Amino acid sequence: MIQNLYTSANGVEVDILRLDTIDSLAPGNKWFKLVPNLVAAQHANATRLISFGGAYSNHLHALAALGHVKGFETIGCVRADRGDPLTPTLLDAKSWGMTLHYLSRSDYRRRNEREFITEILAQYPNSYLIPEGGANKIGAGGCGKIVDLIPNRGSDYTALVLACGTGTTLAGIASMIADGVRVIGVPVLKAEKFMARDISAMLAVLGADRDNWQLDHRFHGGAYACLPQAVLEHMQTFECYHGILLDPVYTAKASYAVQSMVDNQEFPAGSRILLVHTGGLQGRRGFNL
Ligand SMILES: Cc1ncc(COP(=O)(O)O)c(C=O)c1O
Repeated sequence: MIQNLYTSANGVEVDILRLDTIDSLAPGNKWFKLVPNLVAAQHANATRLISFGGAYSNHLHALAALGHVKGFETIGCVRADRGDPLTPTLLDAKSWGMTLHYLSRSDYRRRNEREFITEILAQYPNSYLIPEGGANKIGAGGCGKIVDLIPNRGSDYTALVLACGTGTTLAGIASMIADGVRVIGVPVLKAEKFMARDISAMLAVLGADRDNWQLDHRFHGGAYACLPQAVLEHMQTFECYHGILLDPVYTAKASYAVQSMVDNQEFPAGSRILLVHTGGLQGRRGFNL
């Protein structure tokens, strides 16, 4: 699961944790967020799973797959117009039986409002609701189990680096990682105003008030799913050199961040860095790569 990538001229060793290789239709961080949510849904005797995402959402894709395997009906509230052509992601989701519930951009913005959620749930009785990105306590707690895959709970490493969308995965990892290890999140969207606050709140919910983490906002490239030329070139070189595919939305930005920090000698000589590959490869189909 952990592979060595390279050692820099000044002696910084970079490894990668391959969550993308989890043998499931829901690989990456999705496995850790969703499996415990499905167990909770079973305990609640729910028959339907409902969540939110975009037309290329890794989260909806994984939810549809796992729901299908575990015998749940799934409802994907998608930020898209009914007339839009189906993306490969939504085609897969439909093939696994997901009902697509289309939401306009303005409705989608209401996805966390209690009244709006109540209206949607009324249309799908007996549902278990999972927030966008699997960003609930159970999802974050599940991501804490990623640390079980790292020898000595990560204590051989100076820092872990991972991409952040909601920050849920980071919160889970930061809650469980060994003392003394930094967890560096690379937001893939402009999130200066809210992500750190959301992560602190999630850590508080997990009962893990830790300050072992930080966000590095330099690498979002302007917007979610925006792929700057430099990141694209890094991704292509990385894939050729290491034979490991990245996804353009999340892991390419995290890997680019690690490479930039190493090149700028931001890690002291002798540091050991673990890049977390959080999956998302199905989302490559949204790009002309
Ligand atoms: C492949 C991939 N990596 C990273 C993330 C970011 O995870 P989080 O929202 O927990 O920060 C996501 C989104 O869930 C993702 O799909």
